[in-house]
Amino acid sequence: MPQIPEKIHELTVGQLSARSGAAVSALHFYESKGLITSRRTSGNQRRYSRDTLRRVAFVRAAQRVGIPLATIREALAELPEERTPTREDWARLSEKWRSELDERIKQLNRLRDHLTDCIGCGCLSMETCVLSNPDDVFGARRTGSRLMAERR
Ligand code: FES
Repeated sequence: MPQIPEKIHELTVGQLSARSGAAVSALHFYESKGLITSRRTSGNQRRYSRDTLRRVAFVRAAQRVGIPLATIREALAELPEERTPTREDWARLSEKWRSELDERIKQLNRLRDHLTDCIGCGCLSMETCVLSNPDDVFGARRTGSRLMAERR
């Protein structure tokens, strides 16, 4: 990735893209979602402050571990005066997000195990297939055609 001289305090979208590794379209998307901001020149071109590089790095790192953009935006919004996340901010948030990631991994492992039962089966039974009727929600309410009558 190209270095940007320290004396440059504002970046074009092309420079930000080249340095951060994010596509220009992704940067526009981040901006539309309020994750980064820019000012417009008199020629209506975007200019990003240099610390936007760190914000983009923060967003991309969080996205890589599957954190939804809405959650990332909330985390950024909690920082005072739209401050760019510091090293301590990232350490704190990554610790919190790790436990969420651990929980998602557990859920995915359970789903994988259930899917393994379905491979080669194909029954999609409401009584025996955990994936077609998770937690047997219908069975807990009533059975058989009563459900159809209940919906009418
Ligand atoms: S398809 Fe038969 S158990 Fe899921």
